[in-house]
This record gives sequence, C-alpha cells and structure tokens, in this order.
Amino acid sequence: MKKMSGMRWPALLALTIMGCASGVVVAQQSDDDIFAEYREMFGDDNPAELIEWQGEDLWKEARGPKQASLEQCDLGLGPGVVDGAYAQLPRFFADAGRVMDLESRLVYCMVELQGFDKAEAAAKPYSGRGEEPSALEALSAFIAGRSKGTPVAVPQDHPAERAAFELGKQFFYLRAGPHDFSCATCHSQSGKRIRLQALPNLTASEDARKAFSTWPGYRISQGTVRTMEWRMGDCARQQRLPEMKFGSDVAIGLITYLGVMAEGEPMDAPGLKR
Ligand code: HEC
Repeated sequence: MKKMSGMRWPALLALTIMGCASGVVVAQQSDDDIFAEYREMFGDDNPAELIEWQGEDLWKEARGPKQASLEQCDLGLGPGVVDGAYAQLPRFFADAGRVMDLESRLVYCMVELQGFDKAEAAAKPYSGRGEEPSALEALSAFIAGRSKGTPVAVPQDHPAERAAFELGKQFFYLRAGPHDFSCATCHSQSGKRIRLQALPNLTASEDARKAFSTWPGYRISQGTVRTMEWRMGDCARQQRLPEMKFGSDVAIGLITYLGVMAEGEPMDAPGLKR
C-alpha cells in the first residue's frame, strides 16, 4: 500500500464539502459524473487505506477477556488466511452451522477467540457521524482490501449456501413496506436515476459485478468506510422497511445473492463511494 501524500488532505476536505452541496450547486451534473471526477483526482489514493491500516492493527491486537488477537480466525480458507477470503464470502461454516458473511464471521471470531459477549460484539456495527470507524468497519476494510484482484467466487456447494442465495433472491423481488417497493423496484432497470444518483441495475451482470466488487466502500459524504451490511440496511431504510437486523439471514441472503451474481469479477474494495 502506498502512503497518501499530505497534499491530498485539503483536496479531500474540499471534495467532502462539495460532495455535501453537490445536489444543490451542480444541478446539471449527475452525482455519477461528479464522483467519476473525484475518483480521477484521487487516482490510486483512496482514503480508505488509513482505515485498512487501522483494521490490520486491530486484527493483530490482543483484545477481549481472553486477550487474544483475531489472527487465528478462520474466514473460510483456513485459520489466519486473509488473502482472497473476502472474495469467497458469504459461505457455510461447519463450526457455526450457518452461512456467514464477513461481518457475522468476525463477530463469531470475536466471541470464540477473544471471549467477547456476542451481543456486545455486534452491538454497534457502524460508526456514527464524526466517530472513529467501528471495529467491524476497520476490519472489513482491511480484509476486503486483501482480496483486491481476486475474482469473486461465492460458493454454492453446500445446500445452506444455495438456500441463502434463494432467500436473498426472493427478498430482492419481494414487494413490501408502505410504498410496496422491492429492491428490484429501484434496481432492475438500466440507466435509472433517483435524485440525480444512478441506480445500478443489480439484475444485470455488469452493474451487479461492479456493485459487489467495490463494497465495503469509503463514503466520501460520510468520511468513513461503510460495509456491505450497512449498504443492505441503508437500502432497506430507503425501501421504508423496518430496520434490517445486523447478521440476519435476510442480510446474509441478499449479500449471497449479489455475490453469486458478481461471479468472476475481480474484487476492487474498498471502493470510493458518494
Ligand atoms: C427507493 C429506492 C431503493 C430501493 C428500494 C433499494 N435501493 Fe439500493 N440503492 C438505492 C440508491 C439511491 C443507491 C445509491 C446510493 C448512493 O450512492 O448513496 C443504492 C445503492 C445500492 C447498492 C450499491 C451499489 C454500488 O454500486 O455501490 C446496492 C448493493 C444496493 N443498493 C442493494 C439494494 C438491495 C439489496 C435492496 C433491497 C433490500 C435495495 N438496494 C433497495 C436505492 C434503492
């Protein structure tokens, strides 16, 4: 990883401010174009790198009642194997007896290896505005970053993995809530927009691949890394559904569905997002 040059911080601040005002000021230009420009200016420097480093430190730090690190956590490719692991998640874990995404697996390891209470480890998965990234955000950034370039290969061998895919797919098309929206209402046509933001067509291979491979992502407008579960929860909110439970079968099912749709796409996370 390359260190960010000091030069770029004022630029980042300016861009963040512009980002907040973009909807008002730059009425003719879509968010898409603006963010393409941001990405161009950042080049290979994604501010998520700082958070990836924090995640790596956390991974190695002895924490919790057992004062152990997470270095022996099995993310699916064997204890301690981080490289390429994210590209194959969610997957079935025999020790836990269920399909897990990265975030629920991390909670599992925090409980098993570090001795944290489960409710405590999962209590605040996402940081609030202006707060330091949560442990799960930093760890997700680090672990996803170590799959860069690895083709997405979310497994569908175990019956539970196929069931997770089916659940996610069903939920994707299920219309619910006060507006009778499904995920597909917003995400099944190409070139659609909402308030100037492009809506990816997640039923088409190209957009689905791009979406899955770039999460977790650094949200410029929020100044932090957000995880795939956060993305699911925030879209459920836009759908006016009750809060999506962290680590729930529905969240993991949706991520499995999107991951299988993105089969073969090289991972490129943490991405740089609006
Ligand atoms: C009311 C419209 C709406 C609904 C319903 C909706 N979304 Fe979204 N979704 C959005 C918008 C808008 C964005 C882009 C947000 C942004 O840039 O901040 C987005 C972004 C996403 C992304 C990230 C795409 C990328 O390339 O970064 C994923 C993945 C996603 N949605 C999945 C879902 C899923 C799964 C559901 C159903 C649980 C869902 N969405 C329901 C509006 C919606």
